[in-house]
Amino acid sequence: MTSRSTPIIELKNIGKSYANINALKDVSLGVRQGEVTCILGDNGAGKSTLISIIAGRNFFLGSEIVRGIGPFRRLDVPAMWEETNKELHRMGINLTDLEQSVGTLSGGQRQVVAIARAIHFGARVLILDEPTAALGVAQSGIVLRYIAAAAREQGIGVIFITHNPHHAYMVGNHFLVLARGEVELDVPREDLSLEKLMFHMAGGRGLATLEHELHLVPTAEAASESARRDSSRSRRQP
Ligand SMILES: Nc1ncnc2c1ncn2[C@@H]1O[C@H](COP(=O)(O)OP(=O)(O)OP(=O)(O)O)[C@@H](O)[C@H]1O
Ligand SMILES: [Mg+2]
Repeated sequence: MTSRSTPIIELKNIGKSYANINALKDVSLGVRQGEVTCILGDNGAGKSTLISIIAGRNFFLGSEIVRGIGPFRRLDVPAMWEETNKELHRMGINLTDLEQSVGTLSGGQRQVVAIARAIHFGARVLILDEPTAALGVAQSGIVLRYIAAAAREQGIGVIFITHNPHHAYMVGNHFLVLARGEVELDVPREDLSLEKLMFHMAGGRGLATLEHELHLVPTAEAASESARRDSSRSRRQP
């Protein structure tokens, strides 16, 4: 018996094709409450296709606060901002002006607001597709902290899609690496090192081959030294 909770989302042997492309083939995935499940893989590996299948089940959207009924229903914006403000304060974040439109927030602030919203609306699952992709080191760190907090303190099942094995390894409890639509690796943290994760993300042997090839490429200094030698040799020629 294991002490881990049963999955709140379980996909078994999922397949998806677009015309003649097998975007997903025989992919299974379990997402547990209170855990960060990382989905990694190269461009075109099938990550977004996989989460669009999960999101199709719609866990979180539609929880906005609504005021009035029938044709008079409208979003209660002031109430939503107030709640967001409270949640952000609780998480130790002060946005200077909450009326500030989301479009003018920095990338990191926007991700944090999304996480705060999920917590406030009592989401059981939070899906983040590349939340740290456009962020600097400091902002990535803040977002990673909230990803971990959403899972460990709020018990949300977080699905974290990223190309960055370092980010994934910092917060992940479970790791799924996709390669050309198939599962390349599916392991809990206990069975994984950062090196092993990077190895599988590079398609296994691919990384060793790349490293070998890079050793064969001359460095900038070596290239300019060799050019200098060539030109002095040609000057000495009669
Ligand atoms: N709507 C679509 N129509 C046709 N092919 C698609 C469609 N969406 C995705 N694909 C193809 O399915 C495969 C998986 O794409 P997907 O977007 O899931 O990859 P990804 O892992 O999210 O990549 P990235 O890291 O670049 O976001 C790719 O070969 C892609 O070209
Ligand atoms: Mg994608």
